[in-house]
Amino acid sequence: MSTARRLAALLLLAAVLTPAAPLDAASRPPVTGTGGAVASDEKLATDAGLEILRAGGNAADAAVATALALVVVEPEAGNLGGGGLAVVKFGDEVAYLDFRETAPAAARRDTYLDKGGEPVPGASLVGPLAAGVPGSPAGLHALHQRYGKLSWRAVVEPARRLAADGFRVSRRLHAGLEEEIDVLRRFEETAKRWLPGGKPPAPGTLLKIPELAATLEDYARRGPRAITAGKRAKAIEETAKRHGGILTAADLGAYEPVWRTPVRFEAFGWQVASADLPSSGGILVGSAAVQLERLAWRDTPRFGAQRAHLIAEAWRRAFADRYLLGDPTTSAAGARELLAASWLEKRAASVDPAKASRSNDVEPWQFTPIAAAAGGSGDTTHLSTVDAEGNLVALTTTLNGLFGCALYVPEAGFFLNNEMDDFATAPGRPNLYGLIQGEANEVRAGKRMLSSMSPTVAWRDGEAVALGGRGGSKIPTATLQVLLAFWLDGDGLQAAVDRPRLHHQWLPDKLFAEPDALSPETRAEVEARGHAVEMAASYAQVHAVRWKSSGEAEAAADPRGGGGAAGVVRPLF
Ligand code: DON
Repeated sequence: MSTARRLAALLLLAAVLTPAAPLDAASRPPVTGTGGAVASDEKLATDAGLEILRAGGNAADAAVATALALVVVEPEAGNLGGGGLAVVKFGDEVAYLDFRETAPAAARRDTYLDKGGEPVPGASLVGPLAAGVPGSPAGLHALHQRYGKLSWRAVVEPARRLAADGFRVSRRLHAGLEEEIDVLRRFEETAKRWLPGGKPPAPGTLLKIPELAATLEDYARRGPRAITAGKRAKAIEETAKRHGGILTAADLGAYEPVWRTPVRFEAFGWQVASADLPSSGGILVGSAAVQLERLAWRDTPRFGAQRAHLIAEAWRRAFADRYLLGDPTTSAAGARELLAASWLEKRAASVDPAKASRSNDVEPWQFTPIAAAAGGSGDTTHLSTVDAEGNLVALTTTLNGLFGCALYVPEAGFFLNNEMDDFATAPGRPNLYGLIQGEANEVRAGKRMLSSMSPTVAWRDGEAVALGGRGGSKIPTATLQVLLAFWLDGDGLQAAVDRPRLHHQWLPDKLFAEPDALSPETRAEVEARGHAVEMAASYAQVHAVRWKSSGEAEAAADPRGGGGAAGVVRPLF
């Protein structure tokens, strides 16, 4: 056979053997390796986690290293001045670490209200009055203390190095600084570091943050007290006070992370562990998943109107229940009540298969309709890790808004959060994410504000996934949709992450749809069932890892928002 003919025959064979790219092909090919995997918002942070896995660290070591690298390279969300939640699965043990911020000792029910009882515009969003007591310094350390294998110094080192030697400013960081420029320039401390010459450093600029490198050096040596006591705690108190804040060094010193039992449920044959109070996340994911199983959701045609209708109805009910939630000490209900089989049976049975309910009719809580808007941009960042033994960590950490309250503390090298807005600062009024919340989530000194973060681990027959996301109220709905696509529709992990999503949060009574989530015909059918559909582009970003029964790890990062970095460790030989 001539060479040309042989080539033609080979090409023909290749064409026959290569299946046509499926319509729903993933945005990037799956990344798999046997030495563990990391998925996060930023390549430099994912690389920090991978470096730790290569050095013999486990999933907890890698998670802490990744989270600390995000403090440096993604300061709009990665933090030591905020808080977060982690769900871990080590062998057969599942655990939930709550390092959510608390309300400062001086916070009161009416801290964000004027004399007439009206909300003071911006008070819970901009400036240090909006800041809760940071939980990350003690939280990340607690995660390492319980599950880490390498030394504390070793896991802090990649972040310290990034801060000391510098990193290239990402497009996303630059865009975030541009977006928030007017708020950031209100604080001289912030402007000096982040707006040199009055504008954000251009993408690609090498940025060193020596003050953060010094904090991390001290943190590596002394643990949380490098931040929560002594000169840095004092500087945080003084900087906050200068701008009308109430956060004190005593608040920082008194903060304690809490190990709790995660929310547990079973759906579609998978075991799931997710975040319990003070997050609503695990309850929302569990409530909707179990309702959908009862509503035989898996039997409805994929991409069809019935699927969209049923998932909107399940979320409508789950988010109505959210109204009862708050800090574990004041919550009017919890997973025990809201994930009880009898309650979810009742919730699912109240869904009309042909017609949308009205949110204000969803029993048992009646409301005067309020002009709530689901929206708001904020900043949170999720990372997932898995090690060569199949241990998994799902960790979400947040400053709430982009750059938190916008106040940078130069002596510490990080921003303070604006998590106080996650409280019902004025019950019945929507927060940054349009969420209407109840008295259970009122401001009270020492309380943790209700969250929607949903770090989650699911497993079945030797397979497991860890995932979660950013996106405020859209975190639980995004997390669930990735799980459903992966569990039920045969999507690979990356395709499941990529899939266009829907969102409903009870109030406002709207079904939000990402472009391409509904075809024009399906949208018309969904509207005919009585849903008000609104197309919106801003959606949650989910980063996930997977452990396969073959002993391989896989990572998938969300391409939305111009980012996401998935990496794996492969053996050298
Ligand atoms: O804890 C919460 O629910 C919010 N602070 C999360 C905010 C968020 O995800 C913003 N990210 N884009």
